[in-house]
Amino acid sequence: MSKITVWFIKSALVYFILAVILGLHMAVSGTQYPYMPIHAHFNLLGWMSMMIYGVGYHILPRFSGRPLYSEKLAEWQFWLANIGLVGMALGWIVKTGWGDANMLLIFSIVEALAAVFFVVNMFKTIKAAPPVPAN
Ligand code: HEM
Ligand code: HEM
Repeated sequence: MSKITVWFIKSALVYFILAVILGLHMAVSGTQYPYMPIHAHFNLLGWMSMMIYGVGYHILPRFSGRPLYSEKLAEWQFWLANIGLVGMALGWIVKTGWGDANMLLIFSIVEALAAVFFVVNMFKTIKAAPPVPAN
């Protein structure tokens, strides 16, 4: 496994544990839980998306028989995805406490950029295999 795959899978596992802890805390708290978006996005952008990024970087180039288009882009994507998600979580805390959504907006853009980097890298990597000739 490449270091990017390992980093993404380890991050995904950490976000999963954090999201589960938040979920359990939410389950025993009152009906209005202000940090539900953090639980949701640690699960969906942290656990699920980062697991998909990590596994995707490993298997998609192999499935298409081509090397990954850019390791550098993948490395940038890793840092942007993590900085973006942690920043979004802090942004939701700031928004809940002080009503200011600017931090959430800025880190949402960072997170969205990470998603675009993954999409570009994969579009440039995957290619359909030539059709298998009949008999
Ligand atoms: C032990 C694991 C988990 C616990 C205890 C838990 C608990 C909760 C609780 C209590 C809520 C609030 C529901 C409400 O009052 O409306 C919630 C919302 C949510 N959870 Fe979890 N959850 C867990 C795992 C997951 C996982 C694995 C995912 C996704 C992969 C997930 C995605 C979400 C989402 C998207 C919402 C927001 C739903 C909405 O918009 O109404 N959760 N969770
Ligand atoms: C750059 C990526 C993303 C950004 C910036 C983003 C941002 C947001 C924001 C600002 C909300 C409103 C939360 C609130 O204040 O109530 C939201 C809700 C939601 N998003 Fe995302 N999101 C992203 C990616 C995703 C992805 C990939 C999924 C699913 C796989 C997802 C699923 C949801 C769900 C289920 C809700 C409603 C539950 C909640 O309130 O937390 N989001 N998102």
